[in-house]
Amino acid sequence: MNLANELLLVASDLARAAGDMALAGRRAGLQNVQTKSTATDMVTEFDRASEKLIVEGMRDRRPLDAIVGEEGASVAGTSGITWYIDPIDGTTNFLYDLPSWAVSIGAEDNNGPLAGVVYIPALGEMFSATRGGGAFLNGSPIRSNIISDVSQALVCTGFSYSAEQRTIQAQRVSKFIHQIRDIRRAGAAAIDLCFVACGRIDAYFEENLHQWDIAAGILIAHEAGCRSGDFAGNAPRPAEILTTAPAIFDQLSGLIMAASAERE
Ligand code: IPD
Ligand code: CA
Ligand code: CA
Repeated sequence: MNLANELLLVASDLARAAGDMALAGRRAGLQNVQTKSTATDMVTEFDRASEKLIVEGMRDRRPLDAIVGEEGASVAGTSGITWYIDPIDGTTNFLYDLPSWAVSIGAEDNNGPLAGVVYIPALGEMFSATRGGGAFLNGSPIRSNIISDVSQALVCTGFSYSAEQRTIQAQRVSKFIHQIRDIRRAGAAAIDLCFVACGRIDAYFEENLHQWDIAAGILIAHEAGCRSGDFAGNAPRPAEILTTAPAIFDQLSGLIMAASAERE
């Protein structure tokens, strides 16, 4: 088995174990819910338990790899592989018992994303990809939509936990919502990227994310034929990401850039 497939196996085993544990725990009832960066940025005991399970499994199976996790995991490594873990992406959905939350695990080497999984326990869906190896949903290949006119595009976005930022972001969307099919705000960045990858939406954009939100999803989207960049079309980064069915990237980039300029 090559390295990418080996990493994929570790990621999918651990994402499934952690996600199924969190789903069972959520169904039994939440006990411990706290806030983080703002009064609406939540963390539960299952965010922490999911990260703990994944990190312990990685330390056991890949002891030389570096690990970065949203809930504080920080392990130095010597293998050249770094894992980025979002133990529950979509914690607000998890809190409300909405099904759109996922465990996201991505592995990167010096050349960028190498393997990644996004597992949605409540839907029983495992999205996966390796660099150059294609993207899959529960083992079947996926592709982004064929769409060339942005006015027909169903576009997903996310809003900040900061009320001030959220207001600015919503105002920007209001500037071009009449030029696209419609907007969705589903509440989990990793899932949003996978849904562009499999054609459930046509595009997704958001600001101020972290590497653990996008490490797996951006590879899955790329391998499914999507185009990603920052809003201006430069290399994608957590601070600014736009991922689309390939033929509408420039059009949507233009709409977002024009709306941002109008705001200033
Ligand atoms: C959040 C979700 C949300 C996005 C936020 C993220 P979390 O992650 O992905 O959709 O809008 O920017 O922080 O806090 O649920 O892991
Ligand atoms: Ca997240
Ligand atoms: Ca999270």
